[in-house]
Order: sequence, then structure tokens, then C-alpha cells
Amino acid sequence: MENIAGDKMFSHIGRVLNDQRPITADIFLTNYCNNKCPYCTYGRWELDAQAYSMKYEEFITYAERLLSLGVEGFILTGGGEPTINPDIMKITAWMEGKGIHYGINTNFNRLVYIKPDYLKVSLDGWDEESYEKRRGVRAYEKVRDNIARYASWKRINSPETSLGIQIVVQDHEEVYRFYDANRDLPVDYISFRPAESTAGDFYNHEYAEKDINQSIEAIKKLKQEDERVTLNFKWEMLDRQEDRCTAQWAQIAVNEHGEVMYCCHKPYQIVGHVMDEDILEKKRAAYTDMGQCDIPCRMTAPNMFVAQMEKERKDAFFI
Ligand SMILES: C[S@@+](CC[C@H](N)C(=O)[O-])C[C@H]1O[C@@H](n2cnc3c(N)ncnc32)[C@H](O)[C@@H]1O
Ligand code: SF4
Ligand code: SF4
Repeated sequence: MENIAGDKMFSHIGRVLNDQRPITADIFLTNYCNNKCPYCTYGRWELDAQAYSMKYEEFITYAERLLSLGVEGFILTGGGEPTINPDIMKITAWMEGKGIHYGINTNFNRLVYIKPDYLKVSLDGWDEESYEKRRGVRAYEKVRDNIARYASWKRINSPETSLGIQIVVQDHEEVYRFYDANRDLPVDYISFRPAESTAGDFYNHEYAEKDINQSIEAIKKLKQEDERVTLNFKWEMLDRQEDRCTAQWAQIAVNEHGEVMYCCHKPYQIVGHVMDEDILEKKRAAYTDMGQCDIPCRMTAPNMFVAQMEKERKDAFFI
């Protein structure tokens, strides 16, 4: 859902070949959170310790700028938890009023009645204990209740919104546990996602390959019985270390201060500010250490697509 899968780049062939303007903006609305997930990407880095949330007026200024740069869809995510930004209702109402495509990744500890294209709840647990272990707080039943309430509201008020739940699978047995406990929820999709880590460290152990295969097998089996189950494309890309981020231009990641990060996986690498006149040039010129990349990464598939397009071909005149 939230990922730019490789084949989506076919919808943007013009940009790939011509101006390479950003397609999607990831916006971090806060740098703080009401969960404490030990696995969280953003717990890995020493970032700004001062709590800050993007203000409504700032959001509009940045969003209008991003639209003028060519952005077509916004992802509200973090950093932290977007729903606890005090201006979240004003921000989302503004986008809804303008007909802007947006999605949100949320822990949904706070119930908000908003109308995004998609609302993905990072649920992760199958009971209070497993939830607390993964998310640092005891809110499993509360979140399930929020999902059920939101689903009833959405049926009438925002039927187009795609509502989903997700688990970051850390061992294959969790696939069934998560599915059995949460299959009753009235959601449109149930996503099983692999863990992301610097240089793929998470899967750097002797049992990893077996566990990955068992996870994929379990997800595929569930998928046969329940079409809501989705196998995240990243499962097929756990062994890919990119040399270059050829599709980097397709996304622009903006933190709560309006600073542009190299990508949403690298919040520590600021390349400029969204209001800088030459922000796209700065972004293009920025160097990044590919050895510090997350594996898997949401850009892996687009990167492969663009690299394929840019490949020099011998004797291309002879089809
Ligand atoms: C960083 S969170 C921000 C939005 C919101 N706080 C949430 O948890 O959904 C965005 C998504 O990244 C996922 N995530 C965080 N760290 C991850 C990791 N190391 N591997 C895979 N997914 C991760 C979370 O589970 C969540 O679905
Ligand atoms: S809720 Fe989201 S941002 Fe907060 S710690 Fe968990 S994964 Fe990270
Ligand atoms: S983690 Fe690496 S491959 Fe992924 S978007 Fe960032 S720079 Fe590109």
C-alpha cells in the first residue's frame, strides 16, 4: 500500500526519462511518539532531542511548495506518531478540502476520524503482552477498538479509504499468531512486512534464510484463504544491497522542521530545507553512504526499475 513498488514507476515514465521531479513526499508531523517500539527505525539514531510538531501554517507552506515541485501524494508518517500532532485534524481537513492524495501510517492509539486514501495501522501484536513487548505500551485492545470504530465510521463517511493493519514479522511463528488474533477486524488488508535494519543486520544470522522462507510460505498460505492478506514486496528483496539510489529523486522526505532528509530511512542526513529555492538541486547533488542504507528499503524496487531504464545498451538500433 504505502510503498512505491517497482511497477508503479510505469505510471511515471515521463518523469523517469525527463525532469525526474519527486512523486511522493513523506512528511514527519512530529518527532515524538506515544509508543516506544524497540525495533523502531528512528530509535537507532541520535536525533533532535527537543520535542517539536509541525504547525498547521507550516504544513500548508511546505505542502504548497511540495505540490509546486511536482509532488502528487503525501505520506504522513514519522519520525514519531502523526496522529498526536495537535494540528492533525486541521492539516488533514485542509488536504481533504483540496482533494490532495494522502495516506497515513499510524499506531492508532489515538482515534482520529480522517479521510485519507489509506490508513495503515501498525498493530504488531496479538494480545496485550505481545503488543507491549513490541510497542512499549499496553494498548492492544484499545487500538483494536479504535480500528473497529473507525471502520464503522468510514463505511458511511469515507468508503474510499483503504484501512489496513500491519505487523513487522520478527519470526515466522508470528504470522499465524497475528492473523488468528486479528482476522476478525473489519479491515481491507492485512500486511506482513519484514524487518528493516542498517545493511540488513537483522537477518545476518545462521537461521535467517530458513525463517524468511517459512514466513513467506505462511503468508502465501494465508493469502490463499483470505484475499486481504498481502505479501509485502520487500520479502523478495532481503538480499539486495544497492550500489546507487537511482530513484532517489522520486521521493522527498521532510521532517517536522521542514528540513529535507536524504530519504525517510536516513533522518540524520539533512540535505537542505524544503523552502530553499534550489532544494531539488541540493537533493540531487547530495552524496550518501550506501553502506548505511536500510535493507530492505522501500526504494529498492524503484531503484531497480530506474537502473534498468538507464542501462546503456549496445547495438540498440538492431531490435
Ligand atoms: C516509523 S513508523 C511512523 C508512523 C507510526 N508511528 C507507526 O508506527 O505506524 C512507520 C512504519 O515503520 C515501521 N517500522 C519502524 N521501524 C521498522 C523497522 N526497523 N523495520 C520495519 N518496519 C519498521 C512501523 O511499524 C510503521 O509501520
Ligand atoms: S509508533 Fe511508530 S514512530 Fe513510534 S516508536 Fe513505534 S514505529 Fe516508531
Ligand atoms: S536507504 Fe538507501 S536505497 Fe533506500 S532510499 Fe535511502 S539511500 Fe536509497
